Amino acid sequence: MNILVVGGGGREHAIIAALARSEKTEKIYAAPGNGGISAYAECFDVKATDIDGIVALAKQLKPDYVFVAPDDPLVMGMVDKLNAEGFKTFGPKANAAIIEGSKAFSKELMKKYNIPTAEYETFTEAEKAISYVKARNTYPTVIKCDGLALGKGVIIAENETAAIDAINSMMVDGKFGKSGNTVVIEEFLTGPEVSVLAFTDGKTVKPMVSSMDHKRAYDGDKGLNTGGMGTVAPNPHYTPELQKECYEKIFMPTIKAMQAEGRPFSGCLYFGLMLTPNGPKVIEYNCRFGDPETQVVLPLLKTDLCDIIEAVYEQRLDGTDIEFDGGACACVVMASGGYPEKYETGKEISGLDERGQCKGAAVYHAGTKLTDGKYYTSGGRVLGVTATGDTLTEALDSAYKAVQTIHFDKAHYRTDIGKRALEAVKK
Ligand code: AMP
Ligand code: GLY
Repeated sequence: MNILVVGGGGREHAIIAALARSEKTEKIYAAPGNGGISAYAECFDVKATDIDGIVALAKQLKPDYVFVAPDDPLVMGMVDKLNAEGFKTFGPKANAAIIEGSKAFSKELMKKYNIPTAEYETFTEAEKAISYVKARNTYPTVIKCDGLALGKGVIIAENETAAIDAINSMMVDGKFGKSGNTVVIEEFLTGPEVSVLAFTDGKTVKPMVSSMDHKRAYDGDKGLNTGGMGTVAPNPHYTPELQKECYEKIFMPTIKAMQAEGRPFSGCLYFGLMLTPNGPKVIEYNCRFGDPETQVVLPLLKTDLCDIIEAVYEQRLDGTDIEFDGGACACVVMASGGYPEKYETGKEISGLDERGQCKGAAVYHAGTKLTDGKYYTSGGRVLGVTATGDTLTEALDSAYKAVQTIHFDKAHYRTDIGKRALEAVKK
C-alpha cells in the first residue's frame, strides 16, 4: 500500500511509525511532515490545510490511501474533495467532522439522542450569554467557543467577572475569530478524565486502548492549557465495567446518532470523557486521532494499521479483530522554553541519532527540522519521547531515562507525567 499522510506533528509521526511497521506498506508520503518524519516518509512541502495543494499532490503521487490526520482539513472538507477526485481516504467527511467543528452541533446531538454530557445553553449574542451567567450565578462555569480554537477555546470561569470577560473576549473582541461567534455555556463537571480513541466505519465502533492526557504546562497541573504535555495508556481509571457502560451509553449511541442524522462518521472518533460521580459524561468529541494520545495508543496496537484503514473504508470493521498489547506506554513531551506562550525556535537538538531517535525510546517529532543532518527545534512542542513496558512504571522509567539524554536550549518538560495514573493504580 502506498499512503499519503496529511499533517506534520507528533501524532502524524506515530501514525507513520505504525504504518511503517506493516508489511503491506510500500511507500509512505507526508505533507508537510517534519524533520523526524522525513526518516520514515518522503515529505512534501504542502500545508495540511491547503486542500487544492493536497489534491494536486495526491494526483501526482497516486497513493492507494490518503490519511487526513488533523482537525482543520477534515472540518474544511478535504476528505470530500479527495473522494470526489477518486481517492480512497481515512478520515470523516465534513458533514461528520462537524462533531468536532461545532460544539453547538455536538451538544445538540447529545441532547437529542440522550448521550450523557454537561447541561448547557448555546448563545449567539453576548448580552444574552451574560444575562444567563448572571441569572445562573453558579461557579465555576464553563464557557466554550463553538468552533475550532487549537484547544484554547475553553475557559473555566471561577466567578462572574471572569465569565463576563470570557464571553466578551470570544463574542465581542473576536479573540478566536469566527469560532467564537457562537458560545456554549455549560455546567462544570468533576472527575478523572479519560481519552478513548475509536475506529469506526459509521456502523461499527471499535474502541482502542484508553489513555490519559496532561494538558497543563507545568507539574502539578499548573500553568496554562497546552496541546498536551504527555500521555499514558491505558488509563487506570477506566475499568472494564466503565468500558462496557461507555460502549452502551456513549460510543454506540453516538455512531447511531450520526447515522440517523445522515452524517455517518468514518475514521477515528475521539471521545473525551469525564468520569463524574453521576457516571461517565462526554466533555468533547474530536473527529480525529488525539495528539499526544496517539503516541501512546498506536505503539500498543498489534493489528496491522493498513488492514484497519481498508476495513474502515470498505465498512467491514464488524468482521475485523483489533488487538492491543497488554502492556503500558508513556509519552513525555519536550517543549520549547516559554511554550505555550512565546517561544524561540531553531535550537539544535543533541542526543538524537541520524534517524531522529535515541536509545530506549521511540521519539515522535512534533516540531523539528532536519538541516544538513542535524535536528533543530521548529515548534512549541518539539518531541514526544515514548516508551512501552510491561507496567506503567516501567514505561515511565524508560521514557524519562531517554528524556535525560536529549538536550536543547531552554527545553522544558513535565516531571510528573503518569504520577496521578500510578496513584490510581495503587488505590
Ligand atoms: P475541551 O477542549 O472541550 O476538551 O476542554 C478542554 C478541557 O477543559 C477539558 O479537557 C477539561 O479538562 C476542561 N473542561 C471542558 N469542559 C468541562 C466541563 N464541563 N467541566 C469541567 N471541565 C471541563
Ligand atoms: N490531546 C487532546 C486533543 O488531541 O485534542
